Amino acid sequence: MKYFPFFLQLNKLPCLIIGGGSVAERKLDLLVKANADITIVSIEFTDYILELSKTNNIKCVTKEYSQKLLEEKRYKFVIAATNNVTLNEQVAKDCDNHNILINVVDQPNICDFIFPSILERGDITVAVSTGGASPVLARMLRTKLETMVPSNYGKLAAIVSANRIKVRDKMKKFSSNKIFWEQMLNGKFFELVLSGRNEEAELFLDEQIENFNEDIANQGEVYLVGAGPGDPDLLTFKALRLMQQADIALYDRLVHPSIVDLIRRDATKIYVGKERDNHVVRQEEINHLLVKYAKEGKKVLRLKGGDPFIFGRGGEEIETLAEEKISFQVVPGITSASGCSAYSGIPLTHRDYAQSCIFVTGHLKEGKLDLDWEKLVQPNQTIVFYMGLVSINIICNELINNGMDKETPCALVQQGTTNTQKEYISVLKDMPALVEAKRPKAPTIFIIGGVVSLRDKLKWYTTNAEG
Ligand SMILES: C[S@@+](CC[C@H](N)C(=O)[O-])C[C@H]1O[C@@H](n2cnc3c(N)ncnc32)[C@H](O)[C@@H]1O
Repeated sequence: MKYFPFFLQLNKLPCLIIGGGSVAERKLDLLVKANADITIVSIEFTDYILELSKTNNIKCVTKEYSQKLLEEKRYKFVIAATNNVTLNEQVAKDCDNHNILINVVDQPNICDFIFPSILERGDITVAVSTGGASPVLARMLRTKLETMVPSNYGKLAAIVSANRIKVRDKMKKFSSNKIFWEQMLNGKFFELVLSGRNEEAELFLDEQIENFNEDIANQGEVYLVGAGPGDPDLLTFKALRLMQQADIALYDRLVHPSIVDLIRRDATKIYVGKERDNHVVRQEEINHLLVKYAKEGKKVLRLKGGDPFIFGRGGEEIETLAEEKISFQVVPGITSASGCSAYSGIPLTHRDYAQSCIFVTGHLKEGKLDLDWEKLVQPNQTIVFYMGLVSINIICNELINNGMDKETPCALVQQGTTNTQKEYISVLKDMPALVEAKRPKAPTIFIIGGVVSLRDKLKWYTTNAEG
């Protein structure tokens, strides 16, 4: 992170602006709004600045810049806002020597801090920064946020703020406070304020504070959530919402790091791994942890790659929860077969090529793959093998030995839907040699059937992945 965002109480803090022209004007309005104690030094000032200084905490000093100015007051920060690049650079150097934070307008490379693009709703402030890369892009993002955060959020913050102490004092358990507000801000109270029915909202809130049942609210729960195959945009709304509510999260190796980043920032995150032949935490231990944390009253997120009920052992995990009478929710995810086929331009079914599609595990048990091969070899059927990279030779040989045409098109999709996705396209008899030569990286999905021949025509997703 190039610039760390924090919100500063500027009230009466002394700050110095060098330059009295239009560049300085751009910064001035916000500093006035935050009630900073502003000194502006310049040999001349715009009419706007002079006018503003009459009614606000602004002192205009008519003189040339000199380093001595920095010693006249305990300035917390300085803004170099002249149109003279050399002078701005000199100010930055001097500030560095005096340990004063410096912002140089339009020269982010010599700034200690930068001004974000700001969205305000009452006490709510949303600040957007591109790390100085593009103020225009930051403004565009802010405009997007404007449409997503209706103006009533300001009122919402005001009502919550007015009731915070009351709620805190009423609750016997520390954790109840957070749960109470999560419920309020995800339900009827929130809707009432956003639709402008403030009186009704406040009455409803009073009633909820009075009748809130802490014992029920503090019961733990497990969210078994599918994170999809990799691209964070493929998460469902519900997955994201529960990821934001969890106190603790147990996630697998196949959950993409950019998805892990979307879990609530202050939730405890536990990596429970599971690579082939290397189970960082054994399944029984995972089941046990879910029960343990839920019994402690926590909202536990169990985040799994793809869909939790497709080769994900999600069933076993909730079986244990059901036996222990722990409440849970299951959120489906996009399974890797769907994600990889979509992002490779290979439809799993197609009127001309496949009327059925079958998902099969290629996971070896004691070096063997015990499948009903005859049943897999059906006309007009797509087969998708999960965990089939290691067993690719066995899969191809068995299918051919059981009657499948050795020229059947097939695709191995590596790290599907991510920016390292890569497809290896071949026919059944040649795929093992291609894998041997190219050594694709796990995870991979193996798609077999006539539908693969559509890929050349339907491919749309491109990445810079190297084989
Ligand atoms: C234990 S299974 C979990 C499947 C997961 N529950 C799902 O619905 O996709 C792991 C296998 O899923 C497949 N897989 C998961 N993510 C993938 C991805 N992004 N690209 C290709 N294959 C993937 C691979 O075959 C991998 O070996």
